[in-house]
Amino acid sequence: MEFRKLKVNDNAQQTNAAVENTLNFAVRAFDKFLGATGLGGRKADYDDEHYEFVGGANDELRKKHYDKSLRLLWKAGRHAEWSSFNDCSKEEEMLVKLADENLSETEKKQVSRMQSAEFRELLNREYTPAQKQAIVNILSLIGHGEAYAWLVSNEVLRDVKSTGAKAALTMQVLEEAKHFVVLRELIHAFEMPIPRLPVYEYMMLEGTLKSKGLEKFFGMNVLVEGIALSIFGALSKFPGLEVLEMFHLDESRHCALPTNYLKTTPLTWWEKNNPAAMVKRFALVLPAIPLAFKMEPDFAELGIDVFDFGGSLVRKVINLAYRVGFHLPLPQENMKDFINYLFNAYCQATRDGHTYQRFLDREATTGEKELAVEREVFLMASA
Ligand SMILES: [Fe+2]
Ligand SMILES: [Fe+2]
Repeated sequence: MEFRKLKVNDNAQQTNAAVENTLNFAVRAFDKFLGATGLGGRKADYDDEHYEFVGGANDELRKKHYDKSLRLLWKAGRHAEWSSFNDCSKEEEMLVKLADENLSETEKKQVSRMQSAEFRELLNREYTPAQKQAIVNILSLIGHGEAYAWLVSNEVLRDVKSTGAKAALTMQVLEEAKHFVVLRELIHAFEMPIPRLPVYEYMMLEGTLKSKGLEKFFGMNVLVEGIALSIFGALSKFPGLEVLEMFHLDESRHCALPTNYLKTTPLTWWEKNNPAAMVKRFALVLPAIPLAFKMEPDFAELGIDVFDFGGSLVRKVINLAYRVGFHLPLPQENMKDFINYLFNAYCQATRDGHTYQRFLDREATTGEKELAVEREVFLMASA
């Protein structure tokens, strides 16, 4: 293509350039001064001179979290066909249709039973009202947690450095939004009263949202998502709850995020061992103990001993926390012994003929796929 170049005034151009340069220097210097004095300054942690976010490209994290999330992004329209979601593209709908046509008679029956009215019938057939209520009580813990995960990941997106890390957090924000809305619909399908947040969980979630900077990684990605991962792992093999396997995959990636991020941007010795920070972390963990006491009847209704579940969960969360560098006020093994002691003391006081148990050696996750996914997260953390 040919252009007819127009003439410009060179002198005016030079003046324009000089004025812009001076103003740029003055504005940025002033913002730097405000930033250094803590009075404000530039809000975006964006490095336009390098065309990257502050912290650099961090392609490794982008590949492990953003790209992988996109690859594994699951559609509710496909995995929760009983739901009202319509998030498949035309091509994906076509694939589902083609897959449908190739289903055997038994497979077709299975698919159709997942659809709305049939889905509710399936739940009614499979579970007594008390079991349905127990599932709702347990799943709604995470349902409320997803709302906070959405808010917290949105804030961490601002706090992490590097383009790769921001891309990873962007995917987490998207996934949490999907978790909140899909889980909400799943829980409503049980047609049982949905409880409010128990105060212990309220304290954990509010404490996490209010914690500063990367400490949010501890409250959310280690503690709350560790709880979510364990609940999805324990329930995903229940009839009608198969979609939880998809949630479990996403949560495992979210639990792995602090490990991958802090490998590239490690916490300082002081950030790990600062006594005030250790006490604050402990204060976030503590409400989980009375929460376990409170949830005992719901787990019991489904044939799960809450302390087997809690022991399996506490072991994973504590191992992950220490590996990443989020230390607690006691050494790792003493911390585990202390919680096992509390569980046993409670059982001693409330259960007839209780004998000392090693609850922290239990495994609550069922399903080979889920166990393999967890091994990847927790072994990676110990590598
Ligand atoms: Fe989630
Ligand atoms: Fe999550």
